[in-house]
Amino acid sequence: MTDSSEIIWQQLQEASQFIRERLIGAYSDMPLPTIGLITGSGLSQALGRLEGEERLAWQDIPHFPRSTVAGHAGELAAGKLAGVGLLLQRGRVHYYEGRSMSQIVFPVRLMKLLGIETLIITNAAGGINRSFQVGDFVLINDHINMIPDNPLRGPNLDQLGPRFPNLNDAYSAELRQIAHRAAQDEGLELQEGVYLAAPGPMYESPAEIQAYRRWGADLVGMSTVPEVIAARHCGLRVLGLSLVTNMAAGLAPGAQLNHQEVLETGKRRERAFARLIRAIVRAL
Ligand code: HPA
Repeated sequence: MTDSSEIIWQQLQEASQFIRERLIGAYSDMPLPTIGLITGSGLSQALGRLEGEERLAWQDIPHFPRSTVAGHAGELAAGKLAGVGLLLQRGRVHYYEGRSMSQIVFPVRLMKLLGIETLIITNAAGGINRSFQVGDFVLINDHINMIPDNPLRGPNLDQLGPRFPNLNDAYSAELRQIAHRAAQDEGLELQEGVYLAAPGPMYESPAEIQAYRRWGADLVGMSTVPEVIAARHCGLRVLGLSLVTNMAAGLAPGAQLNHQEVLETGKRRERAFARLIRAIVRAL
């Protein structure tokens, strides 16, 4: 182990100690959560407050990454959703913000240290598969990483996982089955597809989207894959869920891709998203 992995490990220890004292261990009536949930900026307010919620601002947690998105301070919340204990990360940091991979995945590793076993990772994505429509929910069943870095490069954090982890079944087939059943019970449609992580912050070019389509990508976004790699490295079970907020570049003639559309679709589908997440959490 070299210095850098020792420093990351030390920082994780300090942050988890702080959170145990100030958040999840601090309230005797709160069961220790085993489910973690990450909601990106477009969906971070969709669930409202958790039952019995206690929360910390990211900037108050030692070593937690700072969000660079103005007016979008991130929070880490503990509480119950549909009666189930949950650790909820509102917001995330992205590669395009200039953050290092170890900063991007710091919260995921922290969840592992805090006792989380199952991680639900959600995002807004562009639809590449033409059978998808704006507003659709899609379970991620595999990924393609086009972000030119990954969180496991460099000295391995032996305390967390192996040097050469595999990514077979990274998006647990068992969890997907549970999610499909939960969606069906709610009368919500749920598709499946392959998520491609692009570096951003620019949207992709139409030619890139055509190339990605031929590779087998169904969705494109700017997050999630680093977090999933880190989660699988440390043995967390992962469920990935995308909301199609727009059709990817060049697929909707005349449409101008912009962040506003992404946020508007997020807002419009907030209630359905909350229903779906509640149903999934109940069924896990
Ligand atoms: N491309 C990349 N990221 C995205 C998109 C997109 O079309 N929509 C939402 N996030």
